[in-house]
Amino acid sequence: MSSDTTNDTTHDTGSGAPVTAPVLDWASDYDIFDPQYVADPFGIWDELREACPMAHTDRWGGSWLPTRYADVYAIAHDIENFPSGNGISVVPLVDTNAAGNAPAPVLTSGVPPISADPPLHTWTRRLVLPTMSPARVAEYEIFTRELCRRLVDDVIARGEGDAAAEYAQQIPVRVIGHILGVPDDMSATFTEWVRDVLEFAHDPERRRRGIVGIITYLQGAIAERKADPKDDFITELLQSEHDGEPIGDAVVMGMCALLLIAGIDTTWSSIGSTMWHLATNPDDRRRLIAEPELMPTAIEEFLRAYAPVTMARRLIEDKEYMGCPMKAGERVLMNFPGANRDPEVFPDADKVILDRQQNRHLAFGAGIHRCAGSNLARMELRVAVEEWLARIPEFDLVDPALVTWAGGQVRGPRSIPVTVR
Ligand code: HEM
Repeated sequence: MSSDTTNDTTHDTGSGAPVTAPVLDWASDYDIFDPQYVADPFGIWDELREACPMAHTDRWGGSWLPTRYADVYAIAHDIENFPSGNGISVVPLVDTNAAGNAPAPVLTSGVPPISADPPLHTWTRRLVLPTMSPARVAEYEIFTRELCRRLVDDVIARGEGDAAAEYAQQIPVRVIGHILGVPDDMSATFTEWVRDVLEFAHDPERRRRGIVGIITYLQGAIAERKADPKDDFITELLQSEHDGEPIGDAVVMGMCALLLIAGIDTTWSSIGSTMWHLATNPDDRRRLIAEPELMPTAIEEFLRAYAPVTMARRLIEDKEYMGCPMKAGERVLMNFPGANRDPEVFPDADKVILDRQQNRHLAFGAGIHRCAGSNLARMELRVAVEEWLARIPEFDLVDPALVTWAGGQVRGPRSIPVTVR
């Protein structure tokens, strides 16, 4: 999806995370795929914030990890020094053609607006925003609520279920499919493709499978809409213009791929983390049921405390920044999740406080790339929690040891087996 590729040969554990050498020093050799970082990064950030607020590693092509809110916020706004057009993945992307297969198709315009700098960023973002406006999101809420009810019915019927795989994971893919106009029976396939692209970004075979799947599907969908326009986002984009010209298939394809990739894994991870919190914190769960008026602040607090997304910016040239000697080609990780745990900005940052009043969290990023889908994501998270708690107020983990988490660019639970009381 970008020229930012490598032939890195690390292998994976089956859970998505590559196997890497253990970390002995987090300040000079961190690894966001280390099992400790995936399971519990919070203590690591706390220590780094005190001792070395901008950590460095040579792993994965070299990167810097800011842990203070002020630094993450400043870098997100400094698009001149930290552009997005030079790469936004947290690790170098594997060369999907290295496996000796026929060349994989590429998204020649990237995945704008997230992978673009102005001016491409500016006008492509403008094309996405109306679809994600509060009025449009209110329309999608009806679909989302019915979907959540059906999923809850299923868990109740069995008396148990997986709150990550069978609930959280099932929601965003269907909502975005509904918006893009892709059939419901493609949901499982899309979910796998998105996991291939994000969770298995280091694995040439899987990444290739995801990219080929998404691009081939969208090529077909675009050809279909051209022949037979529909009432969906793909058609809307095909009918849009920029500077008096149609916007071109490559941009349409990149934007649709982005909505799939950005809209699925992120939101399902937030819903999943929230379900995990509610399963393991009965006092918060009961309070939220007893005081539903807390829902707006509670949703912001879940987003803050369990922010799933870490992005990156890749340096074009050597640069001294905040006293750090950054090298061309290295990355700066946009540690939005770590910024959200900074006690300078959030008192009792490691506590989940359902009625936290001051909560300018960075879960959705900051600056020109701030999440274009935040209205939609908030709605999905709120409806998912409301519908589950309305019918399943009491539930427990089957066994804490069965809960699994994925990390890297997007952190969230992959399995949360629960029983309904
Ligand atoms: C809880 C769920 C979500 C989280 C935590 C999240 C987080 C983020 C973050 C941190 C960024 C900034 C990226 C950067 O600075 O490089 C971003 C951008 C973006 N997100 Fe989300 N996102 C979520 C859900 C969604 C959904 C549901 C959609 C749409 C279907 C979406 C669409 C986008 C788009 C289009 C951008 C690019 C905006 C730009 O570059 O101007 N996101 N998101």
